[in-house]
Amino acid sequence: MKKNFIILASGNGSNALNLINKFYTDKNGCGDIEIAAVVSNIADAPVIEKVKKTAPDISIFVIPFTVLSERDAFEKELGDIIKKYKVDYIILAGFMKILSKEFVSKFPYQIINIHPSLLPAFKGREAIKKAFEYGVKYTGVTVHYVTSEIDAGPIICQEIVGIDDSDTVGTLEAKIHKTEHKIYPVAIEIALTGADPRRRVI
Ligand code: GRF
Repeated sequence: MKKNFIILASGNGSNALNLINKFYTDKNGCGDIEIAAVVSNIADAPVIEKVKKTAPDISIFVIPFTVLSERDAFEKELGDIIKKYKVDYIILAGFMKILSKEFVSKFPYQIINIHPSLLPAFKGREAIKKAFEYGVKYTGVTVHYVTSEIDAGPIICQEIVGIDDSDTVGTLEAKIHKTEHKIYPVAIEIALTGADPRRRVI
């Protein structure tokens, strides 16, 4: 049965666009997924123009949320959109705000996030820079379900990215993004199978 997705993004939108290209623009073989809408908390986020250009008939909602006092109103409106579009999965693609515990607990195993490190290492912001500066030889990308604990929900899939001596934060970032674009669609397809994330290896 078809599943409805909503994508939440705050910034550049390369992951959002990649998912749209995979599941919306190229619908061949992806008939089970419908991207119902994109929601951004930032009015001038580049992701908005990119989505308009690539997928003009995907609805875009801008709901301001930059300070904590705006969170309740953001979540109320988001909840209305989720109901209206009968959303099955909420996909965070560079969504830079923390959703409340109350909101997250209403959608168990339905909110999915991508994080640019091998969790549980380097949680939180600037994970790529933190891994580079720490000097680890391998970092990577994690796709996981969102729970009330930040960057700690059940892992759906991970992929390793090696850090070479010649890398800079910039080149590492490029490698991480390339890997993100490869594994996020795969992880979503795994999630759709309903497989137990603790047992799944790809
Ligand atoms: C990605 O590195 C993602 O892992 C993190 O935020 C970044 C978003 O990049 N959560 P983009 O906006 O998708 O280009």
